Amino acid sequence: MTIVVTGGAGYIGAHVVRLLQQAGDKVVIVDDLSTGDASRVGGAPIIELDIAQPEAKDQLSTLLREVGATAVIHFAARKQVGESVARPVWYFEQNVGGMANLLAAMEQASVSRLVFSSSAAAYGQPDVGIVSEKSPAVPINPYGQTKLACEWLASDAATAWGLRVVALRYFNVAGAGVPELGDPAALNLVPMVLEKLAAGRRPLIFGDDYPTPDGTCVRDYIHVSDLARAHIDSLNYLERNDRPYDVFNVGTGEGSSVREVIAEIGRVSGLDVAPEILPRRPGDPAELVGDPTRINDVLGWRAEFGLPDIIASAWEAWQAGPHRIEI
Ligand code: UFG
Repeated sequence: MTIVVTGGAGYIGAHVVRLLQQAGDKVVIVDDLSTGDASRVGGAPIIELDIAQPEAKDQLSTLLREVGATAVIHFAARKQVGESVARPVWYFEQNVGGMANLLAAMEQASVSRLVFSSSAAAYGQPDVGIVSEKSPAVPINPYGQTKLACEWLASDAATAWGLRVVALRYFNVAGAGVPELGDPAALNLVPMVLEKLAAGRRPLIFGDDYPTPDGTCVRDYIHVSDLARAHIDSLNYLERNDRPYDVFNVGTGEGSSVREVIAEIGRVSGLDVAPEILPRRPGDPAELVGDPTRINDVLGWRAEFGLPDIIASAWEAWQAGPHRIEI
């Protein structure tokens, strides 16, 4: 198969590219390299392109035809919640505009299989801690809104012209499949804690007065290797199924608190991780855990790794990188 991977030079994309290469598939990456890193993709060709530009539609359809694409995995998007609040129009232009160009190009080139990176941010602030795909999707920031709008767009294209889509709602992704593919962006809890420790500072906890067992927010942490495998399973599902549109949570069903994550980093690293408690960060739901029943049943996918594996791999990747912490 020939798979076009938008955003394939990013953290999650590079893990999926590696699995595809190991399976013998041909991979062509489309990435604007604004946050991605060309050295991570094992020699796969990279077309440097911002898919949200108006001319990208024709460029993408030509590319899809030229390489004989079987399917597209679509990661390329902006993903910072805070930035999306500050620049909502740009987020819609980039994420929804990019999706619109991609879908138009796929229709023009008659490429009918799509795996789309959606997000648990689509659920917003749920009333219940564990959400299923049937739970209301009411995002609370522009980032989550763009992800949900992209799901709608893909679902509408499936109805209109026979596109077939798997949308994966990722929960909190962390860890590294191999040390050189660790998360380079210190934007999420695990890399933010490691960054503080590398600077000789204390990790931060944004709020310890939530209605959770230890007062800190609870999330469903998923190993990036497990998440990457869900994309391969989705491609296989699209090959053997005719359903137009499916959405799946990619979570474990198990929650971990911020304190538990930080304590695990302390255990694995041997470092003193006594945290500094700051006020709540606006927009954080107290608890967000994904019910994985549907993806277990339909795709046969389940997470193999738990929090200790995630943290151990993140630590190993951090120590292999430029900000190694001397112990
Ligand atoms: N946190 C801290 N200290 C830090 C960093 C984070 O206490 O230094 C807390 C946050 O307040 C939050 C939890 O750790 O309670 C997790 O925060 P992240 O920023 O790692 O992740 P989020 O849950 O906010 O969001 C992530 C992705 C989103 C995605 C969402 C899905 O960034 O894109 O998971 O659950 F939508």
